[in-house]
Amino acid sequence: MAEENKKIKLTIDNITVEVEPGTTIVEAARLLGSEFAPPTMCFYSKLEGSGGKCRTCLVEVAAGSAADPRPMPKLVASCRTQVMEGMVVKNITSERVLDARNGVVEFLLINHPLDCPICDQAGECYLQDLSYDHGEVGTRTEFVRRTFKREDIGPLIQLHMTRCILCYRCVMVADQLTDKRVHGIVDRGDKAAISTYISKAIDNDFSGNMIDVCPVGALTDKTFRFKNRVWFTKPVDAHRDCETPGCCGKATLWLRGEEVFRVTSRKDPWGEVQSFDGKPGWICNTCRFDKKKSSDWVVEGLTQISRHSVIGANKYKVLDVPKETIREVMDGRDPKLLMDIHAVSDVNNPAIDLSKLNRPAHSGDFEK
Ligand code: SF4
Ligand code: FES
Repeated sequence: MAEENKKIKLTIDNITVEVEPGTTIVEAARLLGSEFAPPTMCFYSKLEGSGGKCRTCLVEVAAGSAADPRPMPKLVASCRTQVMEGMVVKNITSERVLDARNGVVEFLLINHPLDCPICDQAGECYLQDLSYDHGEVGTRTEFVRRTFKREDIGPLIQLHMTRCILCYRCVMVADQLTDKRVHGIVDRGDKAAISTYISKAIDNDFSGNMIDVCPVGALTDKTFRFKNRVWFTKPVDAHRDCETPGCCGKATLWLRGEEVFRVTSRKDPWGEVQSFDGKPGWICNTCRFDKKKSSDWVVEGLTQISRHSVIGANKYKVLDVPKETIREVMDGRDPKLLMDIHAVSDVNNPAIDLSKLNRPAHSGDFEK
């Protein structure tokens, strides 16, 4: 094998992983699973040049490479640092990293309003998840949070600038998916804000993808806003023959009964748009905003939702059924004494085997 094609071996949290040269630490860590991958609020692998803005993905490099095993003096942004042969990376095994990440979350929340109860992104907000994992219960700031003049950016997308964390993902979507970007980040420091130049509506075939890449509730779907909580809706995968060039026609429909409340692109485990045939599956505004009847779509089946997501509540398709037979629990031994619960209690209905239910037991299962 030619030297330049040789895979690079490194360890992340004491686990060895081999990757192609040019891979970033965060992409290498994603190969190990969500437990080991640093959180990313601005990096988005399908958007060229993304990352390096939020600092949530900081990791410790305990050894730079086999050739130069000195530790890197500062924590590094894993989305912007490429792997080296023999590199030793610490993520969840580093106290420094966890401490720094708590600090980053605190900074992100200094100006972010705590308005989750009225925010449409609640339940699928990456800042909400991040603050549960790394945030403090209280706040140490007593200052007034940033406020902005409300700006109308068109009939389809609602901008809540106070919630924006300036990750630049939406700017990159407009730059890389459309031919006429009319918005960007204007001003500097604590005045920096998403804005159109000057008060133009954002209007192009793929602008809806800005909503999907926004990690917080700064950009939300005006056609869905306040209609329902995401965890009350049922996500299903569906497709249609879309004629818009560049649209993959594969989407997630968020249903309540037969009614399609919302259409989004399909997401991968990292919250990024899924790829199809090696290309990111962006969807056009016609699919997203105009096709709101289930008859517009061919439904493929339930969307696989992580069991840790609030959206997964009450949806049991992907739950692992634990093997909990007594013999297995007891390492192959039989119990010396087995009691029949029905002999001592009349709470359970003897006709119902609770371990065979593929759903949670409810009151009806206990009544005789
Ligand atoms: S509006 Fe959302 S996607 Fe755009 S910069 Fe702000 S947080 Fe990022
Ligand atoms: S994800 Fe790396 S700096 Fe934001």
